[in-house]
Formats: sequence, C-alpha cells, structure tokens
Amino acid sequence: MSNAPGTTEEDAEYKKICENHKHLIETLPKCNGWWTPHLHNYNGFWLTPDILKANLLLHTYFKSHPTDIFLASFMKSGTTWLKALVFSTLNRDSYTFSDHYLHKHNPHSAFSPLDAETYPITDFTNSLTPRLFSTHFARTMLPACMSSCKFVYVCRDPKDVLISLWHFMNKIRSKDLPPLSLDKAFELFCLGVSDYGPFWEQVLSYWRASLEYPDKILFLKYEDMKNEPEVVVRKLAAFVGKPVTVEEEEKGVVREIVKLCSFENMSNLEVNKEGFEKFGRLVNIEKRVFFRKGVIGDWKNYLSKEMKERVDGITAQKFKGSGLIFTATG
Ligand code: A3P
Repeated sequence: MSNAPGTTEEDAEYKKICENHKHLIETLPKCNGWWTPHLHNYNGFWLTPDILKANLLLHTYFKSHPTDIFLASFMKSGTTWLKALVFSTLNRDSYTFSDHYLHKHNPHSAFSPLDAETYPITDFTNSLTPRLFSTHFARTMLPACMSSCKFVYVCRDPKDVLISLWHFMNKIRSKDLPPLSLDKAFELFCLGVSDYGPFWEQVLSYWRASLEYPDKILFLKYEDMKNEPEVVVRKLAAFVGKPVTVEEEEKGVVREIVKLCSFENMSNLEVNKEGFEKFGRLVNIEKRVFFRKGVIGDWKNYLSKEMKERVDGITAQKFKGSGLIFTATG
C-alpha cells in the first residue's frame, strides 16, 4: 500500500475522497441485497456499499509488487479450498504434514482480503513474500497495477454456486431482514443481481484475461479440482514457480497436500468448526459456514427442471464463442 495515511493532509485528502465516493454511490442503480439491504451497480457489477467503498479505496491506495499472488473467485466457487491448496503448495518446505499451519488456522487467514479494506488502509509491507491476496472483484474492476502479478482463479458450475450462495447468505444475512427464499435468490441470480455479479460476466472477465495472459492467470474449475486434485496441485506448483520435483513425487508430497486440503479433513478440524474469521475490519464470519457439503451437483436437490434449463440457457448464451465450457453435471 502507498501513502500510509495518518498525517493531517492525508486525512483531509481521504475525507475528500469519501465525499466523492458518497456522491458517486448515491447516483448508482440500486437493487435488493442478499445479506445486506442493498446492492449498487458499479461499472456493471453489483456490490454492497462497503465493498464498493473498498474497491474505490483500492484504486486510490493499492500498490502491487510483481511477486504478489492474487486468488480470485466468484463467491462460493471453492475459494476456501483453493486458498488451502495454494498456501500449502507454495509453503510445502516450511511445514510438515503432521504439524501444519492449516491444522491451526483457517485457510482464509493466510490471505489478505482486498474487498474488505477500510481506512486507514492496511500496510502490507511487513507481509511475507510473496504477499497473498484474495478478491471476488471482476478482473476489470481491479487496478491496472495488478496486471504484472499472478492470479489463480476458480470458477464453478453456476447452479452449484447459486445453491451454495443461497445457503451461505441465509446464514450470514442480517437478522433484521426476512429470510431469502430460494425462488427470490434464483430470480436475482438469473438477473445477475448478487454480490460481485453478474456471475457470468465476473467469470468471463478472468477467462478472457487468462487467454490473453496465460502465464499470469491460471484459470481453474472446482469440478476439475474435485475430479483430479493431484493434477491441479501440480499445475499450481508450476504456476507459482515451484514445480513438483521427482523427489517430491516419490515422497508423495502431492498426495499429502490433497489430503490435507480435502473437504473431509478441513471441515473436521477443530479450528474450522469453532469461532469466527475476520475479513478486514468490517466483516466477521463463522468459520464453519465455509464448509457445507463440498460436492458437485447438489443443485439437483433444489432446482426444478425449468430452473436448471433457465440457468443452463443463460450460461450457454453468455459463454457462447468464449471457448469456456462447463461439463454438464446432470
Ligand atoms: P457447498 O455449499 O456446495 O458445500 P467458498 O470457499 O468460495 O466460499 O465456497 C464454499 C463452497 O466450497 C461450499 O460448497 C463448501 O462446502 C465448499 N468447500 C469448502 N472447502 C472445501 C474443500 N476442502 N473441498 C471441496 N469443497 C469445499
């Protein structure tokens, strides 16, 4: 981060920026939120007012380092799992699999969330190298300075994202709001109105960037991570510049990483069952809500044939010609 605020001049500048943000937010289209009363549409994407402010602050204050690694995803696409995989792959020389950082810490704690920044914006200069950040912002909503950094992105079948999101949002939704019905959530999701949505445009923003800069953006799918986790770990290792060696293969390191980060292992660790995880200074979420079923195709237990066809139709239409294909899950 630059311009570590704190001086009177910087505070005055910040107050001016806030005034501008406030005016801007007032002019933006508004719609029903999933866990907050409202979402605002900014540059084509729906964000809560606090997250929108965080985005504006990023553009003003964030300075990337070329070694930074960003983990990006649409909400409920496997972020927690990928954080565990990236962290344990990158730091496989620093821990043993019998006494690991992830036995005592939730995977989210290893990444600084860009979307929850408040003023004075965190100074990350003391963070380890590479610095690890996470975000749900579309690629097109991030500062240009990040284009020299590496991104790992995970996407997931939108039908599973929708169901996972609906469960999650009802758990974290403000108690002042009535429960969000599946019908309402479905309608909003299809219209593209959900935090960081539309889903399809957010995914495409990373997909297109990954085609243009394949050495900078590794585009992964939850379904591939489930079906071939070892292949994904090898890809991750190569991408972060630490390819798996023959010796590591012989020692079964890849298998150990997959086992450590598996849903069965992660969701049963005491550290992930109890307490809250803090995202920036504003958001506190119960750790256990990041683990629900962890399977492919749970949407079948919730969506009618018509609902499935509507989501698949939107997906086919939006992704047409992009080269991005989701393997049908039923
Ligand atoms: P479900 O609600 O379908 O079970 P995110 O981490 O992006 O918030 O995504 C949460 C989804 O990933 C949830 O999906 C959760 O259960 C699943 N998940 C969490 N950890 C996982 C793991 N280690 N392996 C597979 N899925 C996992």
